[in-house]
Amino acid sequence: MLSAAAAERNKEPIVSVLRESAGTGRALQALEVSSGTGQHVTHFAQALRNITWQPSEFDPQSIDSIDAYRAHYQLSNVKPAIHLDASLPHQTWGGIQPESLDLVVNINMIHISPMSCTEGLFKGVGEVLKPQGLLLTYGPYAVNGQITPQSNVDFDCSLRQRNPKWGLRDISLLSSLAQQSGLFLEKIVDMPANNKCLLFRKESLV
Ligand SMILES: C[S@@+](CC[C@H](N)C(=O)[O-])C[C@H]1O[C@@H](n2cnc3c(N)ncnc32)[C@H](O)[C@@H]1O
Repeated sequence: MLSAAAAERNKEPIVSVLRESAGTGRALQALEVSSGTGQHVTHFAQALRNITWQPSEFDPQSIDSIDAYRAHYQLSNVKPAIHLDASLPHQTWGGIQPESLDLVVNINMIHISPMSCTEGLFKGVGEVLKPQGLLLTYGPYAVNGQITPQSNVDFDCSLRQRNPKWGLRDISLLSSLAQQSGLFLEKIVDMPANNKCLLFRKESLV
C-alpha cells in the first residue's frame, strides 16, 4: 500500500466536490483513470457508497498498491484494478463498454503525462460515458495562457525540465478537446493549493 502525501491532502476536498455532483444516492458506475496509489478510490468508495468504482493504472506497481488497499479495506464497491493506458483507444480499456459509465475521475495526470494521454482521455471518456455522464479532472491548470501564482509557474518549469512533454495545460485547450468528444465544460471549482476541479458533462443526443 503505497502512500502519496498529495493524495492524502487533496482526497477530502475532492470528495466534497464529488459529493455535490454525484452523491445522489442513485447507484452509479465510475471509472478512475490513473488511480496512482489507490488512496483516492479507497476514500471515495468509503464516502460515496452509492458509487461502484473501477480503479485503473498504467504503472504495474501502482496496480499492486491499489489492489493492496482494496484487500485491506474489503470494500464491496471497488472492483479489482485494471491496466489502462489513457493514450490508447477505449477498446483497450479493460473491457469497459461504450456508454456504460456515469462518472470518470482523473486526478493529477493531465500535467504529468504527454499530451497524447490527455487527448486519449477525452476521446475515450466521450465513448464510455453515458449521455449526461460526468468527467471530473483535478490538478493545476493555465487559464487563458496564464499560469498563476508563481509557485505554479515554477512547478510547470520543473515538470518541463523533467520531461519536455509534461506541463500545465490550458483550460481552453481542454475545453476544446472535450467538445470534440461530445463533452462540455460545465463547472470550474477552485481547490486548495491553486488547483482546480474541472467538471465536463457529456451532451445528450437530441
Ligand atoms: C502524479 S501521478 C497521479 C496519481 C494519482 N491520480 C494521484 O493523484 O495520486 C500521475 C499518474 O499518471 C499515470 N500515468 C502516466 N502515464 C499514463 C497513461 N499513459 N495512462 C494512464 N495513466 C498514466 C502514472 O502512472 C501516475 O500514476
